[in-house]
Amino acid sequence: MLSLLVLISGGGSNLRALLEATATGDYPARVIAVGSDNHAEGLAHAEEFGIPVFVVEPGSFDSRDAWGRELLARIEGYSPDLVVCAGFMRILPPVVVAALTPRLINTHPALLPAFPGAHAVRDALAAGVETTGVTVHVIDEGVDTGPVIVQESVRVEPGDTEHDLHERIKTVERQLLVQAVRDIADGVVDLKETAAR
Ligand code: GAR
Repeated sequence: MLSLLVLISGGGSNLRALLEATATGDYPARVIAVGSDNHAEGLAHAEEFGIPVFVVEPGSFDSRDAWGRELLARIEGYSPDLVVCAGFMRILPPVVVAALTPRLINTHPALLPAFPGAHAVRDALAAGVETTGVTVHVIDEGVDTGPVIVQESVRVEPGDTEHDLHERIKTVERQLLVQAVRDIADGVVDLKETAAR
């Protein structure tokens, strides 16, 4: 059974999808803790499932590195097999990435390397692309540059707002993330091999 620690910043619908998958019984992973950089709404999903939560706010530290060291200590306190950034909207400091990668993955609402960063859906709409999508990838030292595990396309429909498009992406994203974690747990995806590509 693969133990997961999930990091979130917002509503946590991807976290919820993982929690619901683990509740089905035949899922090869379980969520052992959920962390956040703020008192995020999505932490309520973890509490509903009886999963411990923690918050490490960057504003409480003198530097990004000090924040990173505390975040890492809290993560390592649970000894997770895999850390999943599911809507975690901060760039992880190098100390965190170095300690955890390749057992550190992220889901991103675009077909990387297109549209990295915090406004991927808005940027895809502004660029006028016909197709965007979702990427699940290993986190490396860059911003959304790590090796891709899996991607899936989503069409941009005429008249899409950022909200409409992001909701359609998230419907695909939740399934893709749940499957990617299953594949990692089952050994179908080898993160060391993925990271070496
Ligand atoms: C997801 O679409 C995730 O890919 C995105 O935030 C959303 C969180 O939704 N993350 C990023 O944009 C990271 N650059 P959720 O809180 O409902 O899971």
